[in-house]
Amino acid sequence: MTPPAQTRLASIVLAAGKGTRMKSEQAKVLHPLLGRPMLFYVLDALQEVRVDRTVLVVGHDAAKVRETCGPAHRYAEQAVQRGTGHAVLMAMPELEDFQGQVLILYGDMPLLTGAVLRELLEAHHRSGDDLTVLTAESDDLRDFGRIVRGADGRVEQIVEARDCTPEQYAVREVNLGAYCAEASFLRDFLPRIGSDNAQGEIYLTDLVALGSAAGRPVGAISTRDVESSLGVNSRADLARAGAVLNRRMVHQLMLEGVTVMDPSSTWVEPGVQVGRDTEILPGTMLSGGTVVGSGCILGPHTRIVASQVGDRATIQNSVLLQARVRDGATIGPFAYLRPGADIGEGAKVGDFVEIKNSVVEAGAKVPHLSYVGDATVGAKANLGCGTITCNYDGKAKHRTVIGERAFIGSNTSLVAPVTIGAGAATGAGSVVTKDVPADTLVVGVPARQVRHLERPTPAEPR
Ligand code: UD1
Ligand code: CA
Repeated sequence: MTPPAQTRLASIVLAAGKGTRMKSEQAKVLHPLLGRPMLFYVLDALQEVRVDRTVLVVGHDAAKVRETCGPAHRYAEQAVQRGTGHAVLMAMPELEDFQGQVLILYGDMPLLTGAVLRELLEAHHRSGDDLTVLTAESDDLRDFGRIVRGADGRVEQIVEARDCTPEQYAVREVNLGAYCAEASFLRDFLPRIGSDNAQGEIYLTDLVALGSAAGRPVGAISTRDVESSLGVNSRADLARAGAVLNRRMVHQLMLEGVTVMDPSSTWVEPGVQVGRDTEILPGTMLSGGTVVGSGCILGPHTRIVASQVGDRATIQNSVLLQARVRDGATIGPFAYLRPGADIGEGAKVGDFVEIKNSVVEAGAKVPHLSYVGDATVGAKANLGCGTITCNYDGKAKHRTVIGERAFIGSNTSLVAPVTIGAGAATGAGSVVTKDVPADTLVVGVPARQVRHLERPTPAEPR
């Protein structure tokens, strides 16, 4: 349940910290997970609960964070990182005219889901409290702030692990780092937070003690989805979070009818689409908005970036970058399709073949050890082992056009610009420097015409 239409919801995302434990030149929140900055996942979760306005608090590497997240959000600068409470205070001028609820999140929580935020929002609406804290019971999250409740069970304060007494340290309920508060409550209490703690920081969590001491209603909602609140503080956390996000992506594909033999070694970035009954074998990575049709076999050990694959294609042990593979084509093992490779229906690109900026038309075969660049390979043409399009003369790139049904002998070099006519053939080891007419055999270095070839009658295919 999203909040009723008349209530308004804003959010503040804290993203000013350096992330010291990452040991990085880059701001922590910009470190990528499945190809996107971790902060994007937090913004996605917020979109699921339809916030009206988001204020990002930036500080470390602020310009880069702003540029990455774009003008759809508001920004507040926290030049010196004096603590999470101070960071939220810096955001309040951007909410000066705002009445309603404010979700406060940390930018280093990329596993947060819309579902968990809805739990928090619903609890906040149900209780009517001024502040609701998202918590969980856990024996693992030993660095997290402890939720200290009074004899009546109400939340009295949050104590950071390093500030805990032994009794407080033993508390199992911890602060996950997501809050929902009334904007008016924040305006009243944020300026009153002090910095009397082990780190000398202005802790956001002190709002709880200040509010409850003043008799304002403060509550907590304990979620069972502890995983969603894993904070990323180190590279080890980054790997763990990446694995969780990937597991969610692969799980979604499986729900949609894709077979995945080994989910843990299959990496699928957000934005990738895969059709039903496609089978993905171990060690396969799909990214850059790749779209794959149905009934394909991908992998093992295949990387496909920003490419389109039709139905019933087979792609094994290969790398595809901005390539297109049409229905029923076979790629690999060990093929490299570079930008602009367009492999036609039922065509075959075999082992140790590189194809760049070239169209291989339907039913054509480039079975082994070839380089095809800036070329058109006509329908049903066959390139012998070791065929090379010599597309670069040291200054410029030139095109090679191979007609349909042409038969290129093993180890032929096609020196572009050059056109091989339909049904023509080259002898093994030829170096073709001049255009070859249709249905003509050429051989030698440089290749010379030998004879005209009879066109096969339709009844006896060559
Ligand atoms: C915080 C909570 C802790 C909770 C834990 C959950 C506080 C005081 N503690 O601790 O109770 O269990 O998260 O993960 O809030 N940031 C700023 N400006 C600052 C300081 C921090 O923008 O001045 C940002 C950081 O970039 C980060 C987030 O706030 O994204 C959280 O800060 P961090 O220092 O990681 O807090 P924790 O020690 O993890
Ligand atoms: Ca943290």
